[in-house]
Amino acid sequence: MKTYNRHLITAALPYANGPVHIGHLAGVYIPADIYARYLRLRGKEVLFVCGSDEHGVPITIKARQLGVSPQDVVDKYHLMIKDAFERFGIKFDIYSRTSSKTHHKTASDFFKKLYDEGKFIEKTSEQYYDTEAQQFLADRYIMGTCPKCSNESAYGDQCEKCGSTLSPNELINPHSTISGSKPVLRETSHWYLPLDQHESWLRQWILEEHKEWKVNVYGQCKSWLDGGLQARAVSRDLDWGVPVPVQGAEGKVLYVWFDAPIGYISNTIELLPNEWEQWWKQGDTKLVHFIGKDNIVFHCIVFPAMLKAHGDYVLPENVPANEFLNLEGDKISTSRNWAVWLHEYLDEFPDKEDVLRYVLCANAPETKDNDFTWKDFQTRNNSELVAVFGNFVNRAVVLAGKYFEGKVPPLKELTAYDEEVLKELPILRQAIEENIEHYRFREALKETMNIARLGNKYLADTEPWKAAKTDMDRVSTILNISLQICANCAIAFDPFLPFTAQKLRYMLGESRADWELLGESNILPEGHALNEAQLLFDKIEDTVVEAQVNKLLATKTANDAAQKPVCEPQKPACTFDDFTKLDIRTATVLEAERVPKTDKLLKLTIDTGIDKRTIVSGIAEYYTPEQMAGKQICILANLEPRKIKGIESQGMILMAKEPNGNMRFVRPDEVLANGAVVN
Ligand code: 2FM
Ligand code: ZN
Repeated sequence: MKTYNRHLITAALPYANGPVHIGHLAGVYIPADIYARYLRLRGKEVLFVCGSDEHGVPITIKARQLGVSPQDVVDKYHLMIKDAFERFGIKFDIYSRTSSKTHHKTASDFFKKLYDEGKFIEKTSEQYYDTEAQQFLADRYIMGTCPKCSNESAYGDQCEKCGSTLSPNELINPHSTISGSKPVLRETSHWYLPLDQHESWLRQWILEEHKEWKVNVYGQCKSWLDGGLQARAVSRDLDWGVPVPVQGAEGKVLYVWFDAPIGYISNTIELLPNEWEQWWKQGDTKLVHFIGKDNIVFHCIVFPAMLKAHGDYVLPENVPANEFLNLEGDKISTSRNWAVWLHEYLDEFPDKEDVLRYVLCANAPETKDNDFTWKDFQTRNNSELVAVFGNFVNRAVVLAGKYFEGKVPPLKELTAYDEEVLKELPILRQAIEENIEHYRFREALKETMNIARLGNKYLADTEPWKAAKTDMDRVSTILNISLQICANCAIAFDPFLPFTAQKLRYMLGESRADWELLGESNILPEGHALNEAQLLFDKIEDTVVEAQVNKLLATKTANDAAQKPVCEPQKPACTFDDFTKLDIRTATVLEAERVPKTDKLLKLTIDTGIDKRTIVSGIAEYYTPEQMAGKQICILANLEPRKIKGIESQGMILMAKEPNGNMRFVRPDEVLANGAVVN
């Protein structure tokens, strides 16, 4: 097995266009933090790097919506995210940002080296261009009608109604969301990373040399590789990002997925300007990327290809990506505000950082998507943290206070049961270590909790409060063992629940966690002084979780209301005389045919009761000519005639239009004679 002298741990850089939510925490930041804390406790050299991902189109869209600059958007969210991570105990060695000078220089130099060495190919393609705004349009800036479900508000990359992935040229009636105008296709050139040229070593490296990667990660990589890799554009026509450092590339920036992973390197440079190369360029560094499943291709295929093309860098040893966490049965969504936001949780649940850390790790989406519910949050708190861990520690420390003046009592004679219990401790340590080292954090937490369960059961079985009536030597042994188990908890829980572990160590009169003592049964020496017992966890009442569920229900109601089409407002008042000027009457369609070279128009021959006439009507999207013949309808007969596509139209057919755009005829509820007047 290879020995590593450095552990370089990265956590996906969150986009600075919104706050961090529980899905991010469960998928990326909690497992990464546990791993980093664990390795530090084991005395390893660790660097845990993260920062805000501040480029890309979503940020420019958000800025446009808010009427502020992209820099204003990222400044706001960068600070908000950084602060929330700190309060939550995610202990990065550095949390910086991709709008920093260091990052711009690092990303720019990285591109330039590859460019100078001919590692890119340059290609020209046609992209949509907004002639009014005078800019190329990213896919998200183009909207139109979805060719699959007719949703009129589909984006150039996706229809959010039917979920189809689209490309802008598939949209019907595309328009620019910047100016509203119809975009035109214009040629532009970009640089591409020829991933096809990297396919063969990537296959060998991932599929042969990293069979140990998580099944979901390995499987996704295999399917990309089996599908055949294609060159990917690494630049964009946009005015927000790292400018492409090539002459004549004005108005072009590096694609956000090219610059973001370089952010891991830039942030290391910012922290360790003189030593960063050891971390990134020496073969005895173990690089591990913690990410969510939507980032797999970028971290397992694209970024390694970039690093390899550059030539100097180590490649990731593992990429333990997680699946997604849902919330109360629905996909978490920033735009729909369907989330539990970290900063709000921290405000609403003071001193309960570890409860959320516990619940999100215990229920982490490691092998499949999982669901977070407030009910489960309450149950895990009340029946696991309070009833097992908290209860055990509290009883042990309180009883030591009551019977032994708050000092660790001596170990007297051990029973066979005592020995059996103590033997469990090193076994649990091994299970915890094995699981963490294989990125199975849920299982590792379960084994950690088993230490507390062991202690809780031991106290319940041995009942020292009863033994106190007859045999204080026995009580002394029971409490010594119980306190040693508490001391094991204070070490083992440290990576998972750092706030609680610290509180527990204070109670036990210990200053630091020494992982090397984990599994031992003599961590606390006889006579060692304890501090006052304090509760590690409080019960969470029904009212508290009900309030959270109600908050989510309010979000749902607001979302439903926002989606409900709104009726057109009432028009200004008109007089009765105005109304009587309108000659509305019943009529029957005799013949109908499409107007050539149009999508919307039908030419109708109408019997009005007073004459036969032609009306051209824009109803071809709703009715075929066959459906029209013989239909009785109502018309506005005295509308001034006008020419439509060269045909004189004498009147107008009355239609009712629903807020969602659906249209139907207005007609009598029984067939009447033609020419019956409506008033
Ligand atoms: O998916 C995301 O949230 C991206 N901002 C992750 C970037 S990770 C890395 F490459 F920087
Ligand atoms: Zn659709």
